[in-house]
Formats: sequence, structure tokens, C-alpha cells
Amino acid sequence: MIDLKVDVQGLQGFVDINSLNSFNNELVLHQGALLNKSGNGNDFLGWITLPDEIDNDLISSIISDAEKAGRNSELYVVIGIGGSYLGARSIIEALQNNFAALLSKEERKSPLVVYAGNNISEDYLSDLLRILDNKDYSIAVVSKSGTTTEPAIAFRLLRKHLENKYGKENARERIIAITDKSKGALKQLAGLENYKTYVIPDDVGGRYSVLTPVGLLPIAVAGFDIKEFIAGAKAMKDVVTTAKSIDDNPAFKYVAARNALYRVGKPVEIMVNYLPSLNYITEWWKQLFGESEGKENKGIFPAGVSFTTDLHSMGQYIQDGLRIIFETVLSVESPKSNLTVPIEEDDSDGLNFVGNMRLSQINLQAEKGTLLAHIDGGVPNILISLPHINEYTLGQLIYFYEFSCALSGYVLDVNPFDQPGVEDYKRNMFALLGKPGFEAQSAELKQRLQ
Ligand code: PA5
Repeated sequence: MIDLKVDVQGLQGFVDINSLNSFNNELVLHQGALLNKSGNGNDFLGWITLPDEIDNDLISSIISDAEKAGRNSELYVVIGIGGSYLGARSIIEALQNNFAALLSKEERKSPLVVYAGNNISEDYLSDLLRILDNKDYSIAVVSKSGTTTEPAIAFRLLRKHLENKYGKENARERIIAITDKSKGALKQLAGLENYKTYVIPDDVGGRYSVLTPVGLLPIAVAGFDIKEFIAGAKAMKDVVTTAKSIDDNPAFKYVAARNALYRVGKPVEIMVNYLPSLNYITEWWKQLFGESEGKENKGIFPAGVSFTTDLHSMGQYIQDGLRIIFETVLSVESPKSNLTVPIEEDDSDGLNFVGNMRLSQINLQAEKGTLLAHIDGGVPNILISLPHINEYTLGQLIYFYEFSCALSGYVLDVNPFDQPGVEDYKRNMFALLGKPGFEAQSAELKQRLQ
């Protein structure tokens, strides 16, 4: 049973909604190619069956590591970049208190998960190290390749800090490495130092790895129910991998709608939320779709906004700017809390017209009003809705996006599972930093920068 729904009524006037059915046969073929592994990138399809395959021993081990961190750590540092941290962060931020960092560990009931290795800011890491001087903490270092520069730098610094604080033996007990089963510098280091490790399966790429220990360990450490999360993903898998028509398969409907819009001159998709706690869901979605589709001079550009906040910044452009945009609104029906606007007798601020209304009702009217205004302004809308946010619905959402992204990559005729373009900046950075093996490019780049 799934709760996620896709509504494409907001395409009216831009695309004939009945014409979406013309994608149906193609989508059935792509669904088949994903399941029988006959399409592009077929050596990276292990994520499809993860919800059925995660074994109980792995779940028990992750939960027991999370409980250990709960006993000995106030902070839990997840070191990783791209797919090696965004999935975990998106789920944790969607589920935790919006001000989790301001709560005590007792109030939170779990360590606070913080992140490193996703940038090279000296100030960011220095600030973190200063905080860690006075807090008990543990580390999960995540890198599939085991050679990515940003997390490697952060891990070298944090490892030293942890060893100075607790001594080498005790520090080892506080480090978990999540990496390839045999290759890479991190795997080698973990073997030498005898760190506990979890394996990222060969056939699961970074941005499709939320349902491996990459996502599951940090989510469990933050105190959330990974079994429910997996169950939600499985419920969605059972639908999107079997249903054969746009009316029954929400992934088909979403993929048909976004590709129909792309074909009528809307190459920019803005993911919209009305809850700031979903901002990292948008960040993860941007990475998933951007890295999967943006290649061979093709692809829908994934952007994100959080309303109503961004109605006071990006709203103007969306309403009136270049007409190349469509929006996909992730709408959540019920909040976790209950807060109403109080009535005031003298109504000195003129707000009694919303007196006694819940904030979620006001937010919903903002959502509906914005949807109509943007459609009137030439911005078609796709609506994805969830009844509420919890582990089960987020599991559905994650799997829905993953399967949609794979299908959509096939519709665009690209390989949705590689990222060749990411190497270009690395090559230049290594050359400029003097990494052995990059000497030839180094002189040429330095010359260009003079
Ligand atoms: O989705 C991907 O494959 C990438 O975003 C990677 O997750 C990211 O580049 C980090 O790579 P690694 O896990 O090898 O350090």
C-alpha cells in the first residue's frame, strides 16, 4: 500500500494530458530493461532490489552500532560528499526537530548527526574541530571509491583529533568506515587500522545508496526507524517495478509529465517544498537527477526552492522571468504538530481573518494560491503528495525518485548511473595541487591562470 500520489492537472494548457499516455509503451520497455538489466549502465542496478535484500543481520548490526553511538557520543560526524552523505542528511533533517542542534542529547534522545568532508572550507572544519574539543563524538567515514579528496582530507584531520582525544585504541572503537569491499585507500586504511567496516555493494552507485549502510547507519544513529524506512521503500518498489500504466504507476506518470514538458521547451524543473525540513530532500533529489541526467548536452536542469520563504526571492523570477521553468511541488498534507493563530480582541495587526486557523491550513492556501498564480504565469506544475512525513512515507519517496530517475534517464537516452563530467574539475584541481601523475596538465593550467 503506497500513500504517494502524483497529480498532473497542472499541465493543462501546456501539454495535452491525454498525450502522456504516448509514453506508456516506452516506459514499460524501460521498466523491463531495468529489471532484466539489459539497458545502459546495467552493472549499477543493485539498488533496485535492495528493499527486498537487506538482511536482518545487517540491520541488527547497524542498530547495535547506533545504540553504541547513543551511549558514548553526543555528536556523530558523517564524513562524505555527494551520494555518500546527501541521502542520510535528507532523511534525518526531514524527521528530526527543526532545531535539533539546540536540544540537549537527553531531549533529542540520540546523538546529533553533523557532517564533514562535503567541502574544503578551512573555517568549516576548524569550527567543527573546536566544537569537538569539548564533546564526545564518533565518526562514520563514507566513500565508495575511497579516494575522494574532500572526505579524505576531513578524515585525516578528524582521525588525528579523535586519537589525540581518546588515544589510538579507544579512537578505533569510535570509527566506522563505509566503503568498497576490496578497493580504494579507505578500504586499505580501514584494514590497517582495524576499523569496523560496512560494504557498499559494487552494483550500487553513490546517489542510489540510501538503502545501504551509507544511509541506514546515520539514520539509525539519529534515532529513526530504519525498518519502517525500508518497508516504505519496499511498498513503493512493489508498485513502480510492476504496474504497467501511467494511471497505476506514479513513477510512469512523473517521468512522462517531466519529459513531455522538457519536449515543449521547459528544460528547468524546480522542486518546491513548503516545509524547510525538506530542503535536504531537495538537495538529494537535485544530486540524483542532475548527476544522472545532465550529460551529452541533454537533461532537465534540477533546481530547488522552499516556499513561502523563496516566494520573497525566487518567486518573482518564477512568476515573470524567462518561461523555461516547470515546478514539481512536494506537498505534505498533515504536519507533525498543531499550532493555531490566536484571536486578538482589538485585532491591531489586522490578522483576525486567519484567527483560530492552523498554520498548516494557511500554508496550504499559500500553496494552492501560488500553484494557480504560477500556472497563470506560464509555469506548469506537477504535484507529488504525501499524507505526512515519517520513515515509511520517506522510504516510499526515496524509492519513487530513484526509480523515476532511472526511467527518465532511459527516456533521455543517457546512462543514468555514471558521472563522467565530475572528473574534469578533479583533474584540474589535482594538476594545480601538484598531485603526482598530473604534471603535464599542471604547467598548462598555471599558464592559463596567469
Ligand atoms: O553519486 C555519486 O556517485 C557521487 O555523488 C558520489 O557519491 C560522490 O562523488 C562521492 O564519491 P565516493 O563515495 O566515492 O567518495
